[in-house]
Amino acid sequence: MPAVPDIEEDHAIVGDDGPDDANYCGREGTVLRREAVPNSRGKYHIHTFGCQMNVADSERMAGVLESLGYSCTEDAAEADVMVMNTCSIREKAETKVYSALGEQRKRKQDNMGSLKIIVAGCVAQQEGEELLRRVPEVDVVMGPQFANKIGDLLERVEQGNQVVATEQVAVEEDITAPRRGSDLTAWVNVIYGCNEKCSYCVVPYTRGLEQSRRPEDILREMTSLGEAGYKEVTLLGQNIDAYGRDLPGMAEDGSGRRENTFTDLLDVVHAAPGIERIRFATSHPRYFTERLIRKCAELPKLCEYFHIPVQSGDNDILREMLRGYSHERYRRIIDNIRRHMPDSSVSTDIIVGFPGETEEQFQRTMDLIRDCGFDRVNTAAYSPRPNTPAAEWDNQVADLIKSDRLQRLNKLVMEVATERAQRFHGRTVEVLVERPNPKEPDTMMMGRSRHNKVVFFAGGPELKGKLVHVKVDRCNAYSLFGSIVDGP
Ligand code: SAH
Ligand code: SF4
Ligand code: F3S
Repeated sequence: MPAVPDIEEDHAIVGDDGPDDANYCGREGTVLRREAVPNSRGKYHIHTFGCQMNVADSERMAGVLESLGYSCTEDAAEADVMVMNTCSIREKAETKVYSALGEQRKRKQDNMGSLKIIVAGCVAQQEGEELLRRVPEVDVVMGPQFANKIGDLLERVEQGNQVVATEQVAVEEDITAPRRGSDLTAWVNVIYGCNEKCSYCVVPYTRGLEQSRRPEDILREMTSLGEAGYKEVTLLGQNIDAYGRDLPGMAEDGSGRRENTFTDLLDVVHAAPGIERIRFATSHPRYFTERLIRKCAELPKLCEYFHIPVQSGDNDILREMLRGYSHERYRRIIDNIRRHMPDSSVSTDIIVGFPGETEEQFQRTMDLIRDCGFDRVNTAAYSPRPNTPAAEWDNQVADLIKSDRLQRLNKLVMEVATERAQRFHGRTVEVLVERPNPKEPDTMMMGRSRHNKVVFFAGGPELKGKLVHVKVDRCNAYSLFGSIVDGP
């Protein structure tokens, strides 16, 4: 299939730094707390494609590699171990991986093979051995569940093997601390995998079955983050509302309610000292509860920000997608959020050009975008993916129609987000100061509001890590501009 014209936003899960590709060591504000390890075994570089799950996995792989004596390099060309942590959500994401791999393959041929190439993540899981046949220079093909086993896999390479690690295994609790890309904000996985079977989506085939981490393990990780000076945590799961359904326990209040739900987990993690803000992604409208919204309203560290992908505003399309909810239910969720937390930011994901989508059905998506007043929308043209049912259907929408719809949708999204952002005009917002503004690093700083808006203001690097109050005097769709004031 020819690629959809390049107007697609490559956002998989709503981004902080977004799912734009990230290169290890390339991030502003990275602080290494690890002691320098003697007897360095060489340098590693990790190129991360895709969503925050992959970013979190890259941080775990980096942690393991550093504990083994490898040091990080920003320059992929000088790496002894090159890790590509790959994404397969759309064809374009996969194509990017193969072109990046082509460069490393050439390097390996040029330097007689001492470079080790590791392909991790979702393309690795999807392709398995096939990837070795396609690119024989690759040393390790490893699925996401093996992120913290990268050391063992490298050892097998050193013994002269080519390794494929894609079998279904339970993810073991980490003993090695991740090497995080920030010293202020951190990702914390709460549930791995996904048991849904949305008809367009490759994730269940690449990330396997749901596996919830135990609440005590999550709290322990968050407590050590708080002790290390981290201020903000984003809890991660592909379907975070599914958290706990594989854990034992029923509530003792006679209600028949399951214990260990995601809502229960929020009470647990809220106790982590030092962490001032908690976010989470991704919420699934099928399971999202009013109890969860009420809990978020009640707990002060929970930010006024929800990411709830809707995918389409048309009930027939939602049914074909196997999403398990109607647009009416989705609208009720948004109404409930606005009732309990009126000022919340809400973001979503939309797919246009799903097989069989008519102009009328697409217009229902446009209506929903207008009505719900989203702060941000990640948009994508439908891309047929291997192993997924929708890819086999014969009612595929033509690429030109998909790209036309995407363009019209993006225009509307920009209007809606810009309008919605104006509510901050003249208001004072709390900002966690993250780093200097790369465009004016000597005089301007940037951070994020609780609503997940990027905020720019005048200030110096001594503010990094502080919570400050900024009076907003200009708002565009995704950023706010203003100046620091005392107190809220
Ligand atoms: N677990 C999340 C989504 C994870 S994938 C959820 O259930 O919403 C992130 C986003 O990528 C999805 O929300 C969807 O909008 C998009 N996406 C997934 N598969 C796609 C495909 N085959 N073509 C285009 N976009 C896709
Ligand atoms: Fe994919 Fe659906 Fe699972 Fe999200 S819930 S990861 S869209 S299968
Ligand atoms: Fe994430 Fe891409 Fe895999 S969006 S789950 S890295 S397919």
